[in-house]
Amino acid sequence: MSDKNLESILHESRSFPPSRDFTAGARIKPADLEALTSEAAADHESFWARLAREEIDWHTPFTKTLDDTNAPNYRWFADGMLNMSHNCLDVHLKANGDKTAIIFEAENGDSHTLSYRELTAAVCRLANGLRALGVQAGDRVVLYMPMTAEAVIAMQACARIGAVHSVVFGGFSAKSLRDRIMDAGAKMVITADGGHRGGQIVALKDATDTALAEGCETIEHVVVLHCTGHDINMVEGRDIWWSELVDGRSDQCEPEFVSAEHPLFLLYTSGSTGKPKGIQHSTGGYLLNAKLTSKWVFDLNDDDVFWCTADVGWITGHSYVAYGPLAAGATIVIYEGAPTYPDGGRFWKICQQHGVTIFYTAPTAIRALMKFGDDVPLSHDLSKLRLLGTVGEPINPEAWMWYHRIIGKERCPIVDTWWQTETGAIMMSPVPGAMATKPGSCTRAIPGIAAAIVDEQGEPVEAPNMGGYLVIEKPWPSMLRTIWGDNDRYIETYWEKFNGRYYVAGDSAIRDEDGYFRIMGRIDDVLNVSGHRLGTMEVESALVAHDLVVEAAVVGRPHEIKGESIFAYVVPRGERPVGEDAAAMTRVLRDWVGEELGAIAKPDEIRFADNLPKTRSGKIMRRLLRTIARGEEITQDTSTLENESILDQLRGEK
Ligand code: WTA
Repeated sequence: MSDKNLESILHESRSFPPSRDFTAGARIKPADLEALTSEAAADHESFWARLAREEIDWHTPFTKTLDDTNAPNYRWFADGMLNMSHNCLDVHLKANGDKTAIIFEAENGDSHTLSYRELTAAVCRLANGLRALGVQAGDRVVLYMPMTAEAVIAMQACARIGAVHSVVFGGFSAKSLRDRIMDAGAKMVITADGGHRGGQIVALKDATDTALAEGCETIEHVVVLHCTGHDINMVEGRDIWWSELVDGRSDQCEPEFVSAEHPLFLLYTSGSTGKPKGIQHSTGGYLLNAKLTSKWVFDLNDDDVFWCTADVGWITGHSYVAYGPLAAGATIVIYEGAPTYPDGGRFWKICQQHGVTIFYTAPTAIRALMKFGDDVPLSHDLSKLRLLGTVGEPINPEAWMWYHRIIGKERCPIVDTWWQTETGAIMMSPVPGAMATKPGSCTRAIPGIAAAIVDEQGEPVEAPNMGGYLVIEKPWPSMLRTIWGDNDRYIETYWEKFNGRYYVAGDSAIRDEDGYFRIMGRIDDVLNVSGHRLGTMEVESALVAHDLVVEAAVVGRPHEIKGESIFAYVVPRGERPVGEDAAAMTRVLRDWVGEELGAIAKPDEIRFADNLPKTRSGKIMRRLLRTIARGEEITQDTSTLENESILDQLRGEK
């Protein structure tokens, strides 16, 4: 974050209490919040045990709440047995079977709805089909799908039979897909012929074929959803159309009841090394926090229409599309396509058309939509909206105020929700009927979550506006359980820094005079591009995998819309290209990274140099590269540089 941003955030004193009307209708009123907070403070375990008993329909009740014998591999409700899909679907059928569960809109504007009864039937038919293909509890199934209702159906169907899904974002490349399939040892891929995005077809089946052409021996079947209808290749014996798989199957499917600790899913996310981490989540603890935060933070009521715009390829699409709101019995909106297709009014048109009451999106989308001018949202009827949310990165106060004034008409509270793939559910956020919000602040931890800021020694930072490590002091039910296949990395990444005392989030934060938290950004080499995490090392490894590249260093640079953009320094093999040659090589390398990792990882800018600046011990001086990428003045000591003239090249001056 630049100093200017820091400055403006530190001087933010505007505060927005909810209206009396909002509070009057809210699930959690100020007194409820106080009661929950003191209950959690009095006895952390009993607090979560009570909620787990009330919120979850257990097949076999648990007798032990928290098992810390193998900390930090904590276990919650471990001897309890349950099924996720049963808790999201079956529990609503009696009283609310005809209630709309999903409103789906395709990019071309077609839309349809599924009631809870219809959704349950579709999930059961697919679950029966998956069982018929030999998928069993504990087997890993990779989903590589467009953002359709079927993506949620596939996730729920896996959950129903105890299979562990691993959703790979449809924008990732064949190579990324292959790496994830192999790391997970998946038995099956569920994909589609293609998806629609920005008027184009995303060729998902082609990419799947490419991924499976090498390695991936564990894959037995590929299930293909008919979506775009363009020509694809079907491999005899391996590939089967979704429609054929479910044809004639029963719409009843006995759920597989599993231990609360049974893995519900893996989701790969970037860390500070080149290899993505398979974050492993549990069934019971994950369900509890996803459901509770849907109710507490989004205040879901019976007649709400909730739209979380995240793709199921990210954690937000897991917790606030596929699971949390369904567990809470809500009506959700799913939109297949790009936010600005065919124009910048698409999101607002969807809100108007489907009567969206709660809208949850990323700051990058808000900034992009702001650019289209106020008239675009103002020409749509957004009067049904009553609550707004953001997630994924710090929101700058300017975008927050625009969201508040132009979209929320100064009437809708904004919940700025801080959490991570690893935390499974929202950790810090306003509880909207019970507290005032402030632009750029995720306010406080929700009840039962013990967030703190500590210094390098692990001592609490008490003074206001002093930065430090954001940590979580006590285990919580939806915490990640491990990194798939690499428990050492789990311990090292999240616990080692303070000897297991805290969960270390990897973000830095401050707290203001009111005790409100503000997230200042990542402390490791993780970029946040359009709210999506990318490791600088991942992009570097992709670059050096190209024949033309000897060495590469990647840093983030603040970007008006994307939050951060990717800036790469590349040492080419042979002569350093200049002018047209440099432009041509940039194109080649950008395309290459797109193929290796996916379009979101393409560097926005590449600068060629004969060398990279290094310390005596041979470490690349990233801080210096970051300074240069941002066009800031160099204050670091550069006297140890072998060749100071390299600085001119890095600055792009020679
Ligand atoms: C950042 C997304 C500021 C943070 C749910 C975190 C945020 C990373 C916020 C996790 C927020 C997320 N304010 N920063 N409200 N929400 N972040 O795993 O750096 O994709 O560590 O999970 O995004 O990203 P992830």
